[in-house]
Amino acid sequence: MKTRPASRTAVLVCQGRAAADGLVAPGRFHDAMAIALLHDDERVPVDRVRGGGPPQGWAQRAEFEMLRATAEVMVARTIVIDAAVRSRLSPQLVILGAGLDDRAWRMSELAEVDVFEIDHPASQQDKHDRVGDLSPCARSLRFVPVDFSGDRLEDALVPAGHHRAVPTTWVWEGVVPYLTRAQVAATVAAVDRCSAPGSRLIINYQSPSLPAAVGRMAARAMTTFVRQPNVWAAEPRRSSWTAAAMRTLLTNHCFPVADDSDLLTVAARLSIPVKQRRSLQSGESRSPTARIDAA
Ligand SMILES: C[S@@+](CC[C@H](N)C(=O)[O-])C[C@H]1O[C@@H](n2cnc3c(N)ncnc32)[C@H](O)[C@@H]1O
Repeated sequence: MKTRPASRTAVLVCQGRAAADGLVAPGRFHDAMAIALLHDDERVPVDRVRGGGPPQGWAQRAEFEMLRATAEVMVARTIVIDAAVRSRLSPQLVILGAGLDDRAWRMSELAEVDVFEIDHPASQQDKHDRVGDLSPCARSLRFVPVDFSGDRLEDALVPAGHHRAVPTTWVWEGVVPYLTRAQVAATVAAVDRCSAPGSRLIINYQSPSLPAAVGRMAARAMTTFVRQPNVWAAEPRRSSWTAAAMRTLLTNHCFPVADDSDLLTVAARLSIPVKQRRSLQSGESRSPTARIDAA
């Protein structure tokens, strides 16, 4: 059986946060930890974006543009999710498909919060190696390997120390597009089963978008043309959701949606300057905040 490699999309979004740190929306967006999670070769394109002008050469230019657009998306996405986490801290925070998420190290507000990072085993091992002995600021941090395509979330979460009776904030950021509709529905059902009253779910999902699909095809063609590795080769897009379909899914699990806005709207609300309007408006970034008050 072919072994699944560690996530490359997790590296891309971490590079986006590192590239934007202190440059895009300074004073409102900070992620000084992101750069520490990247290998030396992964920092090179980050330095180019931070350096300003586009580089010479097709290959470097393609990588530069993709990362610059990713950085803008990550700023709005991170600010709005961080704000949702802070707005009502729960004693437990579960990060679903954590990748190189660094909230457990970055957010001092988590000092009294037990954090559980869920991810595919290969990606989680990679994260573990990258983190080394960096100390989190969360009260506790547990890595819990789960493959959403087959494992039952609670079978891993409960032995790791998660308490069903204690309210949980769930963050599910940038993962839904890589799962089938059935896997997404099964995960929401599992979140429901593991949620005490007062729990909340913050989701980022992708809406169907023709311009976004065309943009991805163009990016893929460009990476093939310039002989760069394709970030999405092992992580194909598997589902997109209209706002209505996502709302129905959540409502069917008794989770009323508190807010559901695309990131362009979020960026406008926060007065974040946006150059790549399409990246934020399209399905790349739809709707980060759905709140669940589990009954
Ligand atoms: C784009 S990254 C997002 C990482 C992180 N949430 C962030 O926003 O920085 C996608 C993440 O989803 C995880 N993922 C994708 N499919 C998965 C699956 N079947 N089971 C568990 N995790 C999965 C990957 O391992 C990766 O960490």
